[in-house]
Amino acid sequence: MYEQSINDPVPFWTPIAKQFHWEEPWTTLHASNFDRNAGPVSIKWFDGAKTNICYNCLDRHVLNGHGDRVAFFWFGNEPADARTVTYSQMLERVQRFANVLKALGIKKGDTVAIYMPMIVDLVVAMLACARIGAPHSIIFGGFSAEALSERIMDARSSVLVTADGAFRGTKFIDLKSIADTAMEKCKTRGFEVTHCVVSLNSGDKAPHSVNMVQGRDQFFHELEATAELECPALWVDAEDILFLLYTSGSTGRPKGVVHTHGGYMVWTATTFKYTFDYHPSDVYFCTADIGWITGHSYIAYGPLLNCATSVMFEGIPTYPEADRYWAIVEKYKVNSFYTAPTAIRSLQRFGEEMPKRHDLSSLRVLGSVGEPINPEAWIWYHDVIGNKRASVVDTYWQTETGGHVITPLPGCTPMKPGSASLPMFGIVPAILDKAGEELSGKAEGYLVIKQSWPGQMRTVFGNHERFELTYFSQFSGAYCTGDGAHRDEHGYSWITGRTDDVITVSGHRMGTAELESAMTTHPDVAESAIVGVPHEIKGEGIHAYVITNPGVETDVSKEKELKMHIRQEIGAFATPDVIHFTSGLPKTRSGKIMRRILRKIAHYEEDSLGDISTLADPSVVQELIDSRPKLQ
Ligand code: WTA
Repeated sequence: MYEQSINDPVPFWTPIAKQFHWEEPWTTLHASNFDRNAGPVSIKWFDGAKTNICYNCLDRHVLNGHGDRVAFFWFGNEPADARTVTYSQMLERVQRFANVLKALGIKKGDTVAIYMPMIVDLVVAMLACARIGAPHSIIFGGFSAEALSERIMDARSSVLVTADGAFRGTKFIDLKSIADTAMEKCKTRGFEVTHCVVSLNSGDKAPHSVNMVQGRDQFFHELEATAELECPALWVDAEDILFLLYTSGSTGRPKGVVHTHGGYMVWTATTFKYTFDYHPSDVYFCTADIGWITGHSYIAYGPLLNCATSVMFEGIPTYPEADRYWAIVEKYKVNSFYTAPTAIRSLQRFGEEMPKRHDLSSLRVLGSVGEPINPEAWIWYHDVIGNKRASVVDTYWQTETGGHVITPLPGCTPMKPGSASLPMFGIVPAILDKAGEELSGKAEGYLVIKQSWPGQMRTVFGNHERFELTYFSQFSGAYCTGDGAHRDEHGYSWITGRTDDVITVSGHRMGTAELESAMTTHPDVAESAIVGVPHEIKGEGIHAYVITNPGVETDVSKEKELKMHIRQEIGAFATPDVIHFTSGLPKTRSGKIMRRILRKIAHYEEDSLGDISTLADPSVVQELIDSRPKLQ
């Protein structure tokens, strides 16, 4: 299948795509240009076709007689909170909520901001947007008011769908207050969110009642209850925008990655089916948050397109105890389980006793995503969770790729712990050297993809030039992933990590430039440089070098204050692990910060600093080594 997919894409993709409903057929299956010298970069799949991904996720299955199949086994933060939603119930709710959005003035092409916890209303809201051709822009519930407001304003979303709050373990996350602050910030910056829809998730359990602003805020359930039941799916062009999702790059503000109805549909459905070897009646459980791409593609769209039954989990893996995932696997007899290496490593710390409490024999496929998985964690996952029987699929992909691009297929690809192995159908990866020359055989270098695939991002929202510069300028004619890879003698890929200034902390991707600009908005900070450091559990941690303004006391309380500042600017997940006060940074004579040196010092690798003679002031290196905070 792989050979055909790359040599002969039309006969490969045609029968796969025909499993979906297209109101009108495509005129061209695929056309793309990756070469900026030959004109604008453009990517099109199923061009000319009319379809709707929401129709394909819901109506198609209900019409085929699968309305009673369970779409989600939803499990709350408290183990007593469990609910089941079928495909026909989803269809009914989505139609009503689509009518709600229309009544709030949302039309095709208007973006809707969604800031919610892991509850079924979130999926209802996103599918309702898709149904009426309104791109959704989901903002992870861990983002701060500042980050939320920036994303609302960038996408100019006049409607925000949120919830009163959510418990994560015993901790209450006051989503509505954060959303209120974000909406205020938008207003003072000249943009108004006219409607805010609030899902009542925590209700009486919340520490205080929810603040509702008259004329702007309305409850989700009230609007839904009075909305018309029917709302036929709008037929949109295959290349119309389905959603935007903000992600970090090496420079500038986060960018809105754009995916479309047609190609993303075919890609997420196909990769879900093959990577997890999904069969009807299987139960699938992905622990990601829908606020990130993994949740978009592999909790919402991929599974629903396959009429799959999934577990959707609101809580955290350690509440009430560190066996929560394993209890869920046992309760629902989960066959495929998908999580991040960070989660595996942190649960590994609790020992084998936790998984041994439960019958995990239903598990057949174990997925990993978000960062390289170290062989120790891989082996524990395979041996202890999978009882040496389940296949481990180490799926390499990105927000930009829409779905898996390098991954083993269970039962088919021989596994090697730590390697994402071989390319997915239609993916032609290559390893290039710095000069852009393609390396053959065993090699290490920059990972690029040479031809387009259906799930590829189409543009950066509102900034096509940035799209071209970010992904198609470093190496002409190829999509640049930003990752390094090593290819072994069997053609297996081993992802070595980012080659740019992006770091992945607990699977959350962030740009160092973004963190630095957040740090320098603090009035006491003159300059900051941030690098990733290896972290036992989180994969990477954040080491922040900070130069304060003259006269500022650099003590423990300032350290705490700066950490708190980052939480407020971005979110708790971006809190630096180390604040390293210094009076200078290693710069070249032209003023460029030498990050290589900062990384070496933060990594305790000063023995291999390399050449420091080009520094404007080499003495700064010793100061940085001496002032390095003790590791906790
Ligand atoms: C990293 C998450 C190694 C990689 C789906 C990529 C991985 C970035 C793997 C994208 C893996 C993701 N092995 N590294 N299996 N999966 N990555 O956009 O650096 O949040 O570029 O998408 O995560 O992160 P993003």
